[in-house]
Amino acid sequence: MDSEATVYRPEALIADDIDAYLDTHQHKSMLRFITCGSVDDGKSTLIGRLLYDSKMIFEDQLAALEADSKTSGTQGENIDFALLVDGLAAEREQGITIDVAYRFFATEKRKFIVADTPGHEQYTRNMVTGASTADLAIILIDARKGVLTQTKRHSYLAHLLGIRNIVLAVNKMDLIDYDQERYEAIVSAYDLFAKSIGISNFTPIPISGLAGDNIASLSDQTPWYAGKALIDHLETVEIGVNARRDGPMRMPVQWVNRPNLDFRGFAGQIASGTVKSGDKVRVVPSGKTSTVERIVTFDGDLEEASAGQSVTLTLADEIDCSRGDVIAAADAPPSAADQFEATIVWMDEQALLPGRAYMLKLGTQMVSATVQPPKYQINVNTMEQVAAKTLELNSIGVAEITTDRRIAFEGYNDADKGGRDLGGFILIDKVSNATVAAGMINFALRRSQNVHWQSVDITREAHASQKNQQPKLLWFTGLSGSGKSTIANLVEKKLYAVGKHSFLLDGDNVRHGLNKDLGFTDADRVENIRRISEVAKLMTDAGLIVLTAFISPFRAERQMARDLMDDAEFVEIFVDTPLEVAEKRDVKGLYKKARAGELKNFTGIDSPYEAPENPEIRIDTTQMTPEDAAEYIVDIVLGQWAPTI
Ligand code: ADX
Repeated sequence: MDSEATVYRPEALIADDIDAYLDTHQHKSMLRFITCGSVDDGKSTLIGRLLYDSKMIFEDQLAALEADSKTSGTQGENIDFALLVDGLAAEREQGITIDVAYRFFATEKRKFIVADTPGHEQYTRNMVTGASTADLAIILIDARKGVLTQTKRHSYLAHLLGIRNIVLAVNKMDLIDYDQERYEAIVSAYDLFAKSIGISNFTPIPISGLAGDNIASLSDQTPWYAGKALIDHLETVEIGVNARRDGPMRMPVQWVNRPNLDFRGFAGQIASGTVKSGDKVRVVPSGKTSTVERIVTFDGDLEEASAGQSVTLTLADEIDCSRGDVIAAADAPPSAADQFEATIVWMDEQALLPGRAYMLKLGTQMVSATVQPPKYQINVNTMEQVAAKTLELNSIGVAEITTDRRIAFEGYNDADKGGRDLGGFILIDKVSNATVAAGMINFALRRSQNVHWQSVDITREAHASQKNQQPKLLWFTGLSGSGKSTIANLVEKKLYAVGKHSFLLDGDNVRHGLNKDLGFTDADRVENIRRISEVAKLMTDAGLIVLTAFISPFRAERQMARDLMDDAEFVEIFVDTPLEVAEKRDVKGLYKKARAGELKNFTGIDSPYEAPENPEIRIDTTQMTPEDAAEYIVDIVLGQWAPTI
């Protein structure tokens, strides 16, 4: 068999023979599994053998189905394949280069999708992609080598990602003369390790991918083996969806279908439980309740539907419910929170920046989220917890996450409550739109439930109207020595002169107090700006016009500050001084030091500055004196005339 697995690309496919496929297979259950091991362990041979021995290779039909699901949408019978190819499409959209090949095959009893994740360098990222939807993992061991570090790593990841069916395939039994003792020694060594990481149960099978022993049928070579052949096990093992059906009902709303005023339906895939018409449901996070009227599908209405099915629900009442909300059993809904502890697998070349706002996608919910510095990182070879300030590519850690609003969730490990759908999330970089991490919610932090927003009687508006002004945040950004502080200082004097109430937060000053624990690494700058934004926001709540003068080199954090304010209140002022000019002025002598290598991470020299793309005001300091610049800014801010840029 070939050793290179095929990656299916929708653009390369032609429609054909779909009816034949559907007739044969639509009523069979589907098992998704992942194979873990390296080429040396005989992984490709094993997959080839499975395809060959199942005697039903459906690669052509798969091609046909993909093309079809493109034209007809993913309703109804194509659903399994949509899931298969959607995994790839979604990742590609998010800009991840994945290295996972999905293969499809079927036997008399079941359909299978196997995700083949190459074991080399970027193993973690690949494995996460393949394993996040898998029901079962085959951990391959070379019988001559026994349990290796990579065996442990793969098992740990599979367990972490919620795979509860583990097959320990002890391969190449032919090369150790089907030695029972050797096999049993490997199984007990693995058992010891498995227990230590919480794997309570696994199925060991002695096999030879090459010779075909115990793959399709039991081998004469291992009369001492009392279990099932591999395919038999794969055909009969219990799959997750059955357990999920017994759990409480949860359906994340994918979209609201409102073709006309007479119909409003909530479409989504049921993550757990069963729903019937007449059931009382609750929308989370809002908590509003109603009753299910109809369960609408492509093929007509259903009396009931359960986990894994895609349906559209209509409710008896006109309650607020939109994409991202979860419709749940009224008496057993999921909780909602905005602070969590999560296990995070970092998948981007650029390390985690604690405090930076990323997009968090959980189920169908999209929110803004920041990650605290990790509590610890896990060494995936030794399972030890090690201290870490950040998470690099392929590393796994545990950290607290704060979202900008409450979301409905389940712990990732609560599989029967749809935990894999409602507890698994990805983080997306707001600027590049790339998926940078996958995460699993461990639990919500109790303080997020116990700390409430205290409403006060003297509101922001009251503070502002007493001062007879509209609060604003004038955000100066630019290189060190560009003139931010000088201009901001002049602006504040002019505001003061006309009776405005203001306050200037300046980089050099704030770094002596509130932020004296922070340096100039990317992570520290992110935290510096995060704190400044929050302080500035509070000061605008007090009715003030706040001026901030910080390099604030990253677009993402300036955006975060902007997002805290109303549109008209945030004024980004780019003090645009070319590096050569700032360096020539070198008021504090810092450029000289940086060039001499005595000062590390200096903005413009060995640390980046991301210039604003659309600032409200741009000051070219090579064309304007600070005095003119200040006058120009004050005119705009006080609304005398509109800027021309
Ligand atoms: S920011 O990048 O986090 O926004 P901030 O504006 O607070 O920086 O501080 C910048 C000031 O710190 C500079 O004007 C300079 O006086 C001083 N400084 C000291 N070390 C550095 C450095 N490595 N890079 C930039 N500024 C530095």
